[in-house]
Formats: sequence, C-alpha cells, structure tokens
Amino acid sequence: MKEKLSALKDEANLNIQKAATLQEIDEIRVKYLGKKGEFTEISKSMRNLSPEERPLFGQLVNETKTFITNLIDEKNLVLKNEAKKEQLMSEVLDISLPGRDVSTGGLHPITETMNFLKGIFTDMGFDIAEGPEVEFTSYNFDALNIPETHPSRDLQDTFYMSENVVLRTHTSPVQARYMEKNQPPFRMVCPGKVYRNDYDISHTPMFHQMEGLMVGPDVSFANLKAMLEQFVTKVFGETKVRFRPHFFPFTEPSAEMDVQCVICKGEGCRLCKHSGWLEIMGCGMVDPAVLEAGGLNSDEVSGFAFGMGIERITMLRYGIDDLRAFFENDVRFLKQFK
Ligand code: PHE
Repeated sequence: MKEKLSALKDEANLNIQKAATLQEIDEIRVKYLGKKGEFTEISKSMRNLSPEERPLFGQLVNETKTFITNLIDEKNLVLKNEAKKEQLMSEVLDISLPGRDVSTGGLHPITETMNFLKGIFTDMGFDIAEGPEVEFTSYNFDALNIPETHPSRDLQDTFYMSENVVLRTHTSPVQARYMEKNQPPFRMVCPGKVYRNDYDISHTPMFHQMEGLMVGPDVSFANLKAMLEQFVTKVFGETKVRFRPHFFPFTEPSAEMDVQCVICKGEGCRLCKHSGWLEIMGCGMVDPAVLEAGGLNSDEVSGFAFGMGIERITMLRYGIDDLRAFFENDVRFLKQFK
C-alpha cells in the first residue's frame, strides 16, 4: 500500500510537471483528487488495514494529498500567469503604426467660393445681407425698375408661384429690401440662390449669385471701377480688366466687366471664344428710380451696384469646364476641393 501511494505521488508529480495547459491541470486534479479519483480509491482500501496501521497510513495519505494539491495549485498559478501574459501580448498596441485615415467631408466648391468672396467683401467693409428665395414681384421687379413689359418677367424666364409671388430671379431684391431698412452711407453684398426657367449645357434652373450695393453722398463710377478692380485682383491675382457698356433696367450707366482670360492670358482660346476676355459680372450706377423706390433721396445720395454668378467664378478659379459637375454630387469630383 505504501509503495502504491509513493508511486502515485511520483506519477502525479510527473504529470503535473508535464501539464502545459490549464485544461490539462484540471484533468489531473479530477484524476487524483476528484470524487472518483485515485485518492478516494486508496481511502476506500484502508478498510482492509488493521486498526493499528490505519491512523498512520491515513496520515501518510493526507500528507501526500496535500503535497499534490499544492503542486497542482502552484502549477495552476504559473499557467494562469502565462495565459494572462500571452493575452496581454496579443493585445499589445503598436503606437508607432501609422493611423488609419478617417474619411471626412469637405465644403462644396460653390460654398467654398462663396465663403472666399464673402471674406474679400467683408475685408473691404461690406455688410452681408440675405433675403427670401420666394419673393414678391414688387421686390423682384417693380422696385428695380423692371417694367411689366420686360422680357425677364415672362413665364419662360421666371418661375411664378402666383401672380405676384416668384422664385427670385436674382439677388437684387435683397438690395431693395436693404435700402428700406438702412440709411446711407452703406455697402453690402447679398449672396444666395436664384432661379430661372432655363436648362441647358451652361444654365441650370437654380444657381448662385452674389450682388453688391454701395450708396453714399458721392459714390461714383470711378469708385465702382476701383473697388471691382481690387476685388478681381484678390480673386484671380494680377490681371487686366475692361468695362463694356451694357444695359440693365436698374442701373444707368451700366457695364459688363471682363477679365483677361485665365487660361490663355489674352492670347485667345476655346474658353474665351478666342476673344482673350471673359465676362464675369454686370454693374453700373444705381438708377435714381431704384433709389427712390428704396426710400432714398436720389438728389442727396448716389450708388453703384454689381452682380455676379458664383458658378462662373468657381469654374474660372478651378478650371472646371462643365457646369453640371456642381450638381451631380460625384464624390470623385467633390473630393478634389477638400
Ligand atoms: N441683377 C443682375 C442679374 O441678375 C446683375 C446686376 C446687378 C447687374 C447689379 C448690374 C448691377 O443679371
């Protein structure tokens, strides 16, 4: 019996040493110390011993059991620590790895250009004003000296909501509203969406404009030219400009302003239709009738106004040759402006 116990002890010891996983150690615990394990067997066979031998052997069994229990607990701890270490190592964070790119959005080129232009005007002391996109014909046309018979009032050009309400066809009505609320001298620009019943390769039913108005005691055409030249230099860099006589109902005299072609620098190319010039805005001295409609005294103050299309300016700034690109929302196009 003693030999059997000693052999069991050696065997268990060896198995514990060999055990490489927590599961194996668990199996060993069951095999020797479990309910149906080896030690239970031995305890049972003690019945066959004489009463004198029993206590002594019992003590020996208990000592061996404790010895093996300790060995198992020790090994268990070692294996547990190893497993923990392994887990930590596998979760190690390599902070020297380059980060994964988070894809973020960007501003639409129209919005970006709008912000850019607004910045230039606010730097020059202009106020920024906004108005409704659904507008009364009284502001969109009448206050701006556009007579009932003017072609732009035609259904073909204007979206009518009702007889006297339209989707504004330009941002000029914002200027008419501004004159009613503000006393000169003032200078303001009004950026925003405008609508015209027009759809082809170079026109969309909705587009963006930015118009400006400056009114004061001695505002002259020379002031208009100087201010616009400075503005254009800030947008396109040093470039030549020219003013061509034109007609607008709300300004007199009126002009269109051209910049030297941004592509060919005046040599002549497809973009400028071989003229060397690109038209970028309309402008002029505010017609006295418009000042009066806005509640101002045209004997005391004068003013200039100008207006430009944001899509056109954006196309020229970035060399975009297709208007439709702005409205298709192709991310490959939009991503270039981030
Ligand atoms: N309102 C004009 C348009 O929409 C632009 C403009 C504004 C022209 C001011 C001259 C002066 O075409």
